[in-house]
Amino acid sequence: MREQQRDTPQDVLVRSAERLAGVLRVPGDKSISHRVAMLAALSSGEVAVHGFLRSEDCLNTLRAAVALGARAETEREPVVISGTGGRFRAPAGVLDLGNSGTGMRLLSGLLAGQEFACELTGDASLRSRPMQRIREPLERMGAQVALLGEGGCAPLRIAGGALHGIEYPLPVASAQVKSCTLLAGLFAEGRTVVIEPKPTRDHTERLLLALGVPLRIDGLRIELDGYGPDGPDWAARDWRVPGDFSSAAFWLTAAAARPGSDLTVERVGLNPRRTALLDVLRRMGAQLEVRREPESETVEPAGAVRMRGGALRATEIGGAEIPNLIDEIPLVAVAGALAEGRTVIRDAAELRVKESDRIASMASNLARLGVRLEERADGMVIEGPAKLTGGVVESFGDHRIAMALTVLACFCPAPVEVRDVGCVATSYPGFWSDAGKIGVKIDRCRSD
Ligand code: S3P
Repeated sequence: MREQQRDTPQDVLVRSAERLAGVLRVPGDKSISHRVAMLAALSSGEVAVHGFLRSEDCLNTLRAAVALGARAETEREPVVISGTGGRFRAPAGVLDLGNSGTGMRLLSGLLAGQEFACELTGDASLRSRPMQRIREPLERMGAQVALLGEGGCAPLRIAGGALHGIEYPLPVASAQVKSCTLLAGLFAEGRTVVIEPKPTRDHTERLLLALGVPLRIDGLRIELDGYGPDGPDWAARDWRVPGDFSSAAFWLTAAAARPGSDLTVERVGLNPRRTALLDVLRRMGAQLEVRREPESETVEPAGAVRMRGGALRATEIGGAEIPNLIDEIPLVAVAGALAEGRTVIRDAAELRVKESDRIASMASNLARLGVRLEERADGMVIEGPAKLTGGVVESFGDHRIAMALTVLACFCPAPVEVRDVGCVATSYPGFWSDAGKIGVKIDRCRSD
């Protein structure tokens, strides 16, 4: 499988941008690409995946699938995955999921149903993220999951097989834990029931339904009848992955806040469990139009979002809205810094266990650029509009922090150096060239 390009910049200098304009297509959705890679790896025959995200995270998931017996051809579009026909083969070594919580947590669900033991690891960030949350349902279903890292973290050792269905009310609103449990449920005897505390992204459910899995959804309750230890008998089918809304979100937020901007992102995923940022930006006064494009849809809604720039006003986010914009909250903080008034982010403590502690990462960087804010355990309060300065900010190795800071830097009167931005390749290859296409001015200070 092709290695990622190595010309990604490590530090960049971002200059103020006057207006953002153009028509853009962003790379494929990360959440859907991970899931399709795993499900295709279990199908019989060749699965063509159009728009698969060739980012480091998703390529790591594909590499793990290959180590488990699948084949993958990633050189050309579409990516083609040949599955194992229902069960995986024991891998020769440790599976390395890199930076990806989705890769590790979802794959763990499938591995819990296999009759072999294997080990999963990842980079330093992934090895610091909580895994007890998946150990609990998987052990209740009958797998053995050892957390070999400190404080309940990866590496994980999973000894799978002989699962039975459980009823599991999720203690956290997490699509990753929900999906892990449902994927294990595929290999269980009997019925697996997951009850969510709040609605979270439902890509797993949509894909499983499209594959004909006996799954029923009743509000926050999801029931799945397992296939038992032999696993599912899926025939190969092709998939189309829409553009990643979470990638489009960077440019849409930048355009919303800069008067005179006119930016359209086409063929982007519009799953309502992912697009709460649009509602937030609308509340803040953004002028946007959404147009569904049925021709770019398969199991997920997709379409175009046109954003025209203007003045933003502050807002508050919290409650059930949070899971539906969980990855966009750093951008809400950026919009808050640019808006008139006090923006409040609450109920977002989950941000502290993402690729970095995103509350602390954003709070310290925003303060460096002149933003007045109060950090709270579950969010922050931002006073806008900030008197921005130039300066140096750090990604903390977190792709979404690097990109959110790049957006804010477009509004700073003096250049901003964003350090350690190589992590952007985990989710958005092409971020820097897309920036240039719509009018963001970037110099590379240091490249690999
Ligand atoms: C994801 C779910 C979210 C999100 C992550 C991707 C997924 O995590 O933050 O980037 O693909 O299921 P949680 O469900 O743990 O909140």
